[in-house]
Amino acid sequence: MGNLYVFDHPLIQHKLTYIRDKNTGTKEFRELVDEVAALMAYEITRDMPLREVEVETPITRAKCKVLAGKKIGLVPILRAGLGMVDGILKLIPTAKVGHLGMYRDPVTLEPVKYYSKMPSDIGERDLILIDPMLATGGSATAGISALKDIGARNIKLMCLIAAEAGIERVQKEHGDVDIYVAAVDPELNEKSYIVPGLGDAGDRLFGTK
Ligand code: URA
Repeated sequence: MGNLYVFDHPLIQHKLTYIRDKNTGTKEFRELVDEVAALMAYEITRDMPLREVEVETPITRAKCKVLAGKKIGLVPILRAGLGMVDGILKLIPTAKVGHLGMYRDPVTLEPVKYYSKMPSDIGERDLILIDPMLATGGSATAGISALKDIGARNIKLMCLIAAEAGIERVQKEHGDVDIYVAAVDPELNEKSYIVPGLGDAGDRLFGTK
C-alpha cells in the first residue's frame, strides 16, 4: 500500500487555516495556495537523488552536491490543480507540466477525461499528480489510471486536503502511489464536498460561482 504523508509544518498549517476561511478573498486565497504548494514541494522532493560535483570557491576547490538530474513532471487535474503549479515550479523550475481535464458525468457520476496533453517522455519522469481536494477519490484514481495507460510508472499524488474516503480509494486502487497532503478531513457531505474542507477549490481560486 502507498504511504500517506501529512505535512504538519507550522507554516503549512497556518496558511491552510486562512485558505479554509470563507472570508479569505480570491487574491489572497490564490497566493496562499501558491505558497503552500511551494512548501509542500520542498517536503515532497526530500528524496531527490544528488550527485557530487567539484566547484572552485574563492578559497579552494570543494566537493559539493547538485541534483542528479532526475526528470520531474507535474500534472494538475483541471481546474483546481492549476492553482498549485506555479508554487511547485518556483522550487522545481525545470519540471515539465502536463494537463489533465476531467469532468463528472452527471448520470453515472463517474469522472470522464476530456483533455490530456502530456510531456512525450512521460514514462521517464517522476510525476506529481496535483488534485487539491481528494474527496471521493474518483478524479484522482481515474487520473492515475489515465497516466499509467500512457506509460507513467512513478506517480506521487499531491493534495491540499484529503478526506478519509478518498485516501482509502486511492490506496485500494493504486497501492504504488504515495499521497502527500496538508490535512486529512473526516467527512464528505451529500454533495461529496469535503467537511470541513474549504469549499470549491476551483471557484475560490478563479473567483467563479
Ligand atoms: N472539490 C472541491 O473543490 N472541494 C471539495 O470539497 C471536494 C471536491
